[in-house]
Amino acid sequence: MSTDPPVGIHDLNFATTSLVLTHDELARHTGANPAKYRHGIGQTSMSIPAADEDIVTLAANAAAPVIGRHGTDGIRTLLFATESGIDQSKAAGVYVHRLLGLHRNVRVVELKQACYGATAALQLARALVLTDPDQQVLVLASDIARYDLDSPGEATQGAAAAALLIAARPAIAVLNTPSGLYTRDVMDFWRPTYRSTPLVDGKKSVDTYLEALTATWHDYRARGGLPFEKLRALCYHQPFTRMAHKAHHHLLKTVGTTPTSQAVIEAIGATTGYNEAIGNSYTASVHLALASLLDSDAPLDGETIGLFSYGSGSVAEFLTATVVPGYRTALRTGAHRRGITDRTPLTYDAYRALHGRLLPTDGREHLLPHQTDGTYRLAGVNAHQRLYTATPDRSSQAPCEDQYDEPRRNEVRAAHSREATGHERLAQHGRPGFPPTRSG
Ligand code: HMG
Repeated sequence: MSTDPPVGIHDLNFATTSLVLTHDELARHTGANPAKYRHGIGQTSMSIPAADEDIVTLAANAAAPVIGRHGTDGIRTLLFATESGIDQSKAAGVYVHRLLGLHRNVRVVELKQACYGATAALQLARALVLTDPDQQVLVLASDIARYDLDSPGEATQGAAAAALLIAARPAIAVLNTPSGLYTRDVMDFWRPTYRSTPLVDGKKSVDTYLEALTATWHDYRARGGLPFEKLRALCYHQPFTRMAHKAHHHLLKTVGTTPTSQAVIEAIGATTGYNEAIGNSYTASVHLALASLLDSDAPLDGETIGLFSYGSGSVAEFLTATVVPGYRTALRTGAHRRGITDRTPLTYDAYRALHGRLLPTDGREHLLPHQTDGTYRLAGVNAHQRLYTATPDRSSQAPCEDQYDEPRRNEVRAAHSREATGHERLAQHGRPGFPPTRSG
């Protein structure tokens, strides 16, 4: 009999961008039938990052409330999973470490394997907590899914970050063993380091996703995993939410059950709400599915949930989590919903202008317009360095400057004061360049 304490998700919060493009607005300009987006791929809108939002600001915004509730003392490791990396060497989590005011005695590392990276992070976190149940691991999954304009992938963009605090005796869900694993070298979706958008074979990616689902399920069962009937619901990686429908239909056939629409809806219906509105958030997507399920009306105390994580390329894992009785008191349902409803809708033209924007690479100082509604923002770049700040009027929540050395602190203060002048201008003229529309 194991004496290990249960380990799992003690807190879960996500943050998305300040801007959104609806699929109706997209359809008006691409000429696609809106029903294709709504029903064919199962999306209603997609989060679009503002000029001063990136994977670091999204992750810091997701993690700050977790730190606000639990403090920093227990955290010994920060694992940052992303496939939208901003540096070939430095881990994005190191910026977040400073922005959140984490202790110096913390290890920080970045993990990558397409959308699968955060699941590897969860398993590493679980193992670390088992070696010392007094320590906690902050897992951050943060991504911006950005495809070429006018490509088939364009309608499946999105962006979000999920923050998961992994601890012994968790308040929300226990991560179980065994899990089912699968890796196969396949070119279904990839992004060479010289490209800002991925190359993708859409049809192949759907097929390899389903192939990996079957394989992980068989491995999970062969290792003593629960029979299918014991799983109350399934959270799939959702590059677009229709994919979860396809996946569950496929799994029902794999386990020898006749797939019906009702069986699919019962298993996944409550998991798609957030992803329908946010779009693909790569590493965060399966956790947004879990958040959507937990935040729903479904009573889940003591229930076991299946989670399927797929990262193109490809690596996949099927695992389960058992919801802790009383979990609702630890949820952040209101904040999650506000994060979605409070986004500012973009016109198609404004979206295209934002899409084409890349950070200057000339090494000179460039300050960015203040567009984000989040606490943390990318104020600009200078000397090939990203300058992150906390929004001045929210800085009481944001211990961001504490760990700057003096020259860097002065640099950021200077950026703040230039930014304050920009704010005054914005107060008179509104957000620069992005006429919002409520028509979508
Ligand atoms: P497409 O060419 O835009 O769409 O590509 P389509 O023509 O295949 O239509 C899509 C669906 O809409 C079809 O349904 C149509 O019938 C339906 P299906 O046959 O698939 O069931 N449809 C309509 N439905 C109702 N009313 C209508 C109508 N018209 C058509 N009027 C595709 C779609 C997903 C391939 C494309 O968007 C794409 O390439 N996306 C990016 C790749 C992707 O998301 N792949 C998913 C699996 S791989 C994965 O999950 C990993 C990933 O997250 C990356 C990572 O791991 O890092 C992507």
